[in-house]
Amino acid sequence: MCSIPCGNRGAGLMTILVTGGAGFIGSNFVIDWLAGSEEPVINLDLLTYAGNLINFAALKNDDRHTFVNGDIGDSSLTFQLLQQHNPRAVINFAAESHVDRSIHGPEDFMQTNIIGTFRLLESVRGYWGDLPDAEKANFRFLHVSTDEVYGSLDADAPAFVETNRYEPNSPYSASKAASDHIVRAYHHTYRLPVLTTNCSNNYGPFQFPEKLIPLIIHNALAHKPLPIYGDGLQIRDWLYVGDHCSAIRAVLANGTVGEVYNIGGLNEMTNIEIVNRLCDILDKLRPISSDASICSYCELITHIKDRPGHDRRYAIDATKIESAIGWRPAETFETGIRKTVEWYLDNQEWVEQIVTGGYRRWIERQYA
Ligand code: NAD
Ligand code: TYD
Repeated sequence: MCSIPCGNRGAGLMTILVTGGAGFIGSNFVIDWLAGSEEPVINLDLLTYAGNLINFAALKNDDRHTFVNGDIGDSSLTFQLLQQHNPRAVINFAAESHVDRSIHGPEDFMQTNIIGTFRLLESVRGYWGDLPDAEKANFRFLHVSTDEVYGSLDADAPAFVETNRYEPNSPYSASKAASDHIVRAYHHTYRLPVLTTNCSNNYGPFQFPEKLIPLIIHNALAHKPLPIYGDGLQIRDWLYVGDHCSAIRAVLANGTVGEVYNIGGLNEMTNIEIVNRLCDILDKLRPISSDASICSYCELITHIKDRPGHDRRYAIDATKIESAIGWRPAETFETGIRKTVEWYLDNQEWVEQIVTGGYRRWIERQYA
């Protein structure tokens, strides 16, 4: 990781600017991008509790990765970065992303997800407006969003399509919905070449252990309770993070400007099914010793008070991205979850480094 001389474009090399690239999906995206392309990445991230530079240990001496510690809401910084590095695309991952935290403290969500996205768009609009015509036509602003903006589905309702009404129910999803609308308006009003993706729940390496799957793995290994909100019959459509990254690359390369693409894993499961599946895998990969007080990790499952306003079901209809762009997930849930559990077992040091005092305070407060 080091500074790249500016003016890459003059040397015939394109560059992309990624925001929030030290978080879960962003760091997978950056790593996958550099594994498949010589094109450098400028990675702008505020390094909140969710951003971790240790994710880039493998890129330590890689000149193609330039990390910049900063806020998408800092207009002078983002404008300066755009002018300095001349990216051909901006991919906006930066966000506050955890629903439960948005319930306890919505302010940061409004600040980053709404105001931050707005300010970033303003910088990008200024930069893009001054580009020569050919670069202007090729430029893209890709906004990474969530299926949660569509609200909650009844059990028998059809999955979300891109034309579903926005009905966000949490401060997180409302702030993401607002950002999607601002992105849309910048295309409609200023013709900024935007793309928006709305993806289902991701899982995989580098996910912070406040989200369901890594939290369950982390607690199980410590023989702590596995907290299930309410009856555990809420449904999510789970997608392996590498597939989300490949979908974003496909939309960036072949998406139609101004369009929205839903991304999903074709894999609806209840939370209790997810947790049982994790316990089964852990029972095989990390059997409990015979002198412990439990025989299987599933004995740790504990139903707790439900999340306020908990959405019952999300499901994605990914027909559009498949028919228009030819993207489909490569992983099944079986293959993706197995890889994920193995990654957490092999990377306990990573987990230990990020579960700091702040993490412990959050867990105490949330699960008291
Ligand atoms: P994350 O919380 O793991 O990472 C967010 C990153 O953004 C962190 O590195 C953080 O430091 C950074 N950040 C926060 N505020 C910032 C600011 N003001 N300026 C610059 N950087 C800032 O989130 P994630 O799970 O990787 O999600 C990434 C994006 O994908 C988000 O926009 C989220 O809404 C969206 N998304 C996530 C999922 C999912 O299942 N995790 C599903 C669909 C869409
Ligand atoms: P989460 O990973 O927080 O993602 P989201 O709320 O964005 O879908 O939660 C996934 C599901 O798991 C959601 O229905 C809430 C539930 N859940 C629990 O039952 N227990 C927990 O401790 C957590 C963190 C989530």
